[in-house]
Parts: sequence; C-alpha cells; structure tokens
Amino acid sequence: MSLRTSQIKSSDYIGKEVTIRGWVYRLRKQKENAFALVRDDRGGVIQCIFPADKVAGLTIESSVEVTGVVSQDARAPEGGYEIKGKNIRVYSVAGTDYPIGEYQSDELLLDKRHLALRTRKMVAMAKIRATVLDLGRRWFVDNGWMEVTAPTIVKGAVEGGSTLFKLKYFDEEAYLSQSAQLYLEAMIFSLGPVWSLTPSFRAEKSRTVRHLAEFSHLEAEAPWVTLEDILQVQEQLVSYIIQKTVKERAEELAFLKRDTTDLKKIEPPFERLPYDKAIEILRSKGFTVTEESGTKREIRAGDDLNIDSERELTKDASKPIFVIGYPIAVKPFYVKEDPERKGVGLAADMLAPRGFGEITSGGLREDDIVSITERIKKEGLNPAAYDWYLDLRRYGSVPHGGFGLGIERLMRWITNADDIKDTVLFPRTMSRVTP
Ligand code: 4AD
Repeated sequence: MSLRTSQIKSSDYIGKEVTIRGWVYRLRKQKENAFALVRDDRGGVIQCIFPADKVAGLTIESSVEVTGVVSQDARAPEGGYEIKGKNIRVYSVAGTDYPIGEYQSDELLLDKRHLALRTRKMVAMAKIRATVLDLGRRWFVDNGWMEVTAPTIVKGAVEGGSTLFKLKYFDEEAYLSQSAQLYLEAMIFSLGPVWSLTPSFRAEKSRTVRHLAEFSHLEAEAPWVTLEDILQVQEQLVSYIIQKTVKERAEELAFLKRDTTDLKKIEPPFERLPYDKAIEILRSKGFTVTEESGTKREIRAGDDLNIDSERELTKDASKPIFVIGYPIAVKPFYVKEDPERKGVGLAADMLAPRGFGEITSGGLREDDIVSITERIKKEGLNPAAYDWYLDLRRYGSVPHGGFGLGIERLMRWITNADDIKDTVLFPRTMSRVTP
C-alpha cells in the first residue's frame, strides 16, 4: 500500500520500508546520488535519495512510485525525514519543457493554471478553500437550515441588467444566474430557512482584484425575520468559518505567510454603521467620487459605496462592519423600503476589515405586491418576466430576508491574497475563460 508523505513523517516509520506515489517536484543530481523531492497527491513532499545512475532519465513532474527505507536527517528538507530509495517505478516521464519553475510571472501561472495547481501555494489555497466551503455547510446544517439548489439558467435579472450573461436557450433567450435569491425566496414558503451554494455569474466589465465573472455564492433566505436577525446570522456564520479555518488550516495559512492574529479576534458582534454616518465619515475625510463625465466631486448622501470608499471606511477596522440602511435608489428592486424612513432600504452589506471591502450583501425583501411591481418597472425591467416571483407576494406574502456571501471575497480576506483570482482554482474574468 502506498502512503502519503504526511503519514511517513513520524518516528513510527524510521527504519521501515515504505512505498509512496507522486510526482518529482525538485531534482538535484550529483555525481553519485540524486535527490528527488517527491510530491504526493495532497501536496506533501519528501526527499528521496537514489544512486544517480538509477534515475538518469528522470525529469521534473514525472510520475513515480518510490519504495525505500525512511530515515531521519536534519539536513533533509521539509521536516528532516527522507527515503533512501530502493526501487523507483516511473509511470510517465514528463517532458523536459515543464513550464512552471520556481519564479514565474502571474500571467504565465494563470495561463498554465492546470499545471500551476501543482504548486504548493495553490495546494494550500485549495485546502483552505475546501475547509471554508465545508465550514459554511456545517454552520447551516448544525443550525437547522435546509440545503437547496436553484437553477443557474434563468429568465430574469436579479442584480441589474448590465452584468447579465446572455445565452441561447433552445429557441429563446436566457441568462446565467447572478444570484439564487429569487428562487430561495420561493422555497421559504414551504421549506423554512434555506441555504444554497451555487455558482453565480456576472459579466463584470471592470478588471479589479475583487471581481470574478463566475464565483461561488453562499446564499440564505428565511421567513419571518427582521434585519437584525439576518445580520446576526451573517456575523455568526463568518466568525465560525474564520475561527475554525484558522485552527484547521493553520499549516496552510502559515505556508502562505498569513499572520492570523487579527483573524483570531473575529467574533460577533460586528459594528452596525448607518449609511448616513458612513457618508458623513467619508465627507469629513474629503472623500471624492468621479462622475461618469469624469468630473470629481465630494461624496454625498445618495451615492453608492465603491471599492475606494469601502477601503477608506475599513482600513483601520479590526473586525467587519455592517453598513446598514442604503438608499433604495442604489439597491436592486427587491430591497424592502423602511416603512419608517422613505427612500431608505432595509439592507446591509458586510465590509471586511483592512480594506478588503464587501463580502456579503443582504437584508429584508419588499413583500408588498404593489411596491415591488413599481420598483421592477422603475429599474426598467418587465414585470411580466417576474410574474412567478410576484406570485410570492400575491399568495401569502410574509416578511422575509436573506443574504449572499461571496466565497472568494471571504477567501481573499482570510488568505490576504492580493487578487481574488488566487482564491479560485480556475478563475473566470473578462479576459480569461481558459484553461
Ligand atoms: O451584492 P450582491 O450582488 O448581492 C446579491 O447577489 C444578493 N441577491 C444576494 C442575496 O441576498 N441572496 O452579491 C452578494 C455577494 C457580494 O457581497 C460579494 O461577496 C459577492 O457576492 N460577489 C462577487 N464575488 C466575486 N466576484 C463578483 N463579481 C461578485 N459579485 C458579487
């Protein structure tokens, strides 16, 4: 039976014969001996030593099965264990033109992502990502929410028409879903609190370090809730994911050189910052926005927040901040208007600290048939396309709400990644649809 390197690196195996399977990660040939660092299929590595003539044709990334005796040697890289090789079976000799070396441009690593997944950085990212996804699931399951899935081929916009991906659906036009929300709203009437993890698609035309054209969207929706209930779910969920990831992926975060001191302090409650106060803070700092015409002016009430204003608001924060009560004019048609304050939406975005920006968005949904129909029209959308959605207001409407969390945005904060593309295995952006 072949073992993984993590199993071998223990005193139990010293002096014992073992077999490992993997790929040659680094190779150093000397006159008498060759030192191959072999990587297993979970990114672990161990040094294997062979007489040089036994591995003469061996190349980087050749797939091998090595049998040998484990020994301990302080000089051996990666933990002081090594294997004195007895036999090596080469499954496939890799071409000598393997394009990924130790130092590579970001662009090349993206072009060759199918191979760059073998780098230890990407393995660490993938493991952290798997844990974040697992923890998101665990939180909802442990708290009694029901998992559902919504279609990703849809007829209507949720988050505005400008980022819709159109597709030909047999003889009609359809879109790739921007959010499962409208479907989750339909489900709560018979399934109670529900959650889903599905890809969402946005034809984002801007190149930024926080936008993908396809991202993993963790969404939740529940009946009979208040805005405060929805905020509490989010702060508990995010704190749970972070606390456990820091523990369960300590090794990988250390490999990425992520100092997790700040993450260990993430716990509820998160600050609730009213939108009006946020604008006041930005104005007091002389924050400006650029209008479509190109002219700069001071930010004012009614403006949406963008990546720069979010950075300004959170750059000195140590925990996430909820900005609450955005003007409904800058939010989609479904956001419920505060009955006490005209024009103010019962919606909130969670901004991650240290400038990482928005990671969740949610709130209460407009549950009145007349108001929501008007809002759909105001957004230039056709109410007929939302007829099924409007039925939810026609037949037994209830106060309800939910939110969406972008997994890659959360990952970017957790791993301190410069670019969101680093947090997903095969990123999709405006300029990248392969590999
Ligand atoms: O703010 P958004 O557009 O809200 C919605 O889609 C709601 N319908 C969700 C809901 O209430 N069920 O997106 C929600 C989150 C954002 O806060 C962000 O984390 C992420 O999805 N997100 C993106 N992540 C990566 N790339 C993009 N282009 C993203 N757009 C949104």
